[in-house]
Order: sequence, then C-alpha cells, then structure tokens
Amino acid sequence: MVRKIGILTSGGDAPGMNAAIRAVTRVALNNGIEMVGIHDGYKGLLEGNFEPLKKTSVSDILARGGTFLGSARLPEFKNEDVRLKCVDNLNNQGIEALVVIGGDGSYRGALELTKMGINCIGLPGTIDNDIPGTDFTIGFDTALRTCVENVDKLRDTSSSHHRASIVEVMGNRCGDLAVYTGICCGAEMVITPETGYDEVEVMERLHYLDAAARKNHAIIIVTEKICDVEALAKKVSQNTGFSGRATVLGHIQRGGSPSPTDRMLASRMGEKAVDLLMEGIGGHCVGIINNEITSLPIEQALEKPRTPRKKFYRLFENLV
Ligand code: F6P
Repeated sequence: MVRKIGILTSGGDAPGMNAAIRAVTRVALNNGIEMVGIHDGYKGLLEGNFEPLKKTSVSDILARGGTFLGSARLPEFKNEDVRLKCVDNLNNQGIEALVVIGGDGSYRGALELTKMGINCIGLPGTIDNDIPGTDFTIGFDTALRTCVENVDKLRDTSSSHHRASIVEVMGNRCGDLAVYTGICCGAEMVITPETGYDEVEVMERLHYLDAAARKNHAIIIVTEKICDVEALAKKVSQNTGFSGRATVLGHIQRGGSPSPTDRMLASRMGEKAVDLLMEGIGGHCVGIINNEITSLPIEQALEKPRTPRKKFYRLFENLV
C-alpha cells in the first residue's frame, strides 16, 4: 500500500487545479497516506522544492484560480540524467507515487517516471480541452465562461458601430474553446484547426452578411496560432462594409475562480487518482467519459488521436 504521494502541477495553469490538489490531498490523508506538494512542476521536482501537505494546507483554495503550488515548463525533463535526479529526490523523501496535473507534455513526463519505478497518475489540467482520453479537461468550462462573457460584451459594441469583431481564443491546436464559444455567443463564423482558414471565404461571407443579410455586426471566433487577427481585421475594413477590430482574449482565459462544473470535475478526478495509486496502479491518466470518471494507460491515451467535435461543428453550421 502506498504510504506517501507527491503532487505537482505542470504546464499552463488552469482554473480548478487547486480544487484537484485539494481533493487528492484530502482523500489521501483520510486514507492514512502522507502528502507532499511539489512547487513549480517538474522544475521543483528537480530542485527538491517540496512541502508536506496537511489538511489545512489546502484550506481556502477550492474557489481560487491558478495553482497554489505554482507551475512551470521544463523541456530538460526529456534528458535521462534530469529524470534520474528527480527520482533520487523522490526516493530521498520516501515519496513512492506522484499525481501530475497538466497537459499531454506533463503526461509524457509522468509515463517516464512510472517506467523508472515511481507510479504516476495524470490528471488533465488545461483550458485547451486537447487531452486524449477525456471528454473534458479541468479548466475548460471556466475558460469557456470567460470567453462567453467577453464575446457577449464585444457583440454589444460591435453592433453599435457596424463592426466585425475578430476574437482570438486559446486552445493551442484544438478548436473546442472556439467552437463552444461560437455556439454560446451566436458567432457568425468560427475558424479553428478543424475548419481550416480561407481568407477569401471570410471576406465573401462578411460581404454577404453586410450586403444581403443586412447584419449590423459580425463575430468571428478564431483559435490562436491560425492567423494574424490584427492583419485580418485591417483587411476586413479594407474589403468589406464592416470595420474590422481584433481582440485577443489572451491569458485572461486562464484565470478566475473555477466554475462549479470544474470544481466537481477536479474533485472527482482527484479522488480517482488516489484510488488508482492505492490499488498499486501507475502510468494511467484519469478522464471523464459520458459523465463517468475513467482511467486508461497514458500510452494508450497518447496514441489515440483526439476526435474533432463533429457534432458541435454541425450544430454551429445549423445555427448560423
Ligand atoms: O496550454 C495552455 C495554453 O494557455 C495554450 O492555450 C496557449 O497556447 C499556451 O498555454 C500559452 O502559454 P504561455 O503561458 O507559456 O504563454
């Protein structure tokens, strides 16, 4: 039976990470397992930046965004000597297992450590919703709420000025945040890695919305890393009857108090992580599929390409 579990958050932070840390810590302590918080992700693991966690260490964090343990990216973790030093640090503290909250890069690290004898469980913590093996990641719902609140405001001002608002949202290479925002805000267009991007098509559609549909605004939601939204906004002003304005929502999407949905998800996933480690299972990641908390080997999850949300793209197309 596992006696001491470490926990870290890695990669970009996400609202609900604190709720997950709290759940893992409380469930473990209630089962007589010691808990250690590792600050600043794999960097803190390498530097031995550890803190014993008591029940009170995780009081008053449930409703807070970010991660009180801090997060970092450590590209050097792919070097074996770095990982060996991390395993040494864990062994020296008697930490037998680890919960890693983060994205797919963090999962890869967790898998390598499991192969080196430290049972690790990955929890999907990212606003991007781009992790295989789960329908939803911790933080996505809260980020979506932020996007929706902001785009609703942009619609007000856009319609007063006959503007086309081009709104860049995060998502890395995943269009979920954009297409969900598009549906929730009644956007006129979404541009995501799944839809592809055709500038001529965008201009034609805006021309139709202005000249034929007589719309007094247009909202276009774009996933980051696809096009330069400022340049696109200028072209919209030059080539259509709308004046174009670009808004990059940026890191504001990563902040804020986690939504009830994210708090529930994080709490349920945290409990599952401890259950798995108590069963002696490592190298797994936790997911939610059809509202059931599940787990599968990280290797299998990473092999599976994440299926695009076809039904939501269809819904979007039926609504515009
Ligand atoms: O993976 C989460 C994420 O917020 C992505 O959506 C975004 O591309 C990236 O992190 C931004 O990273 P950074 O915080 O390093 O600017």
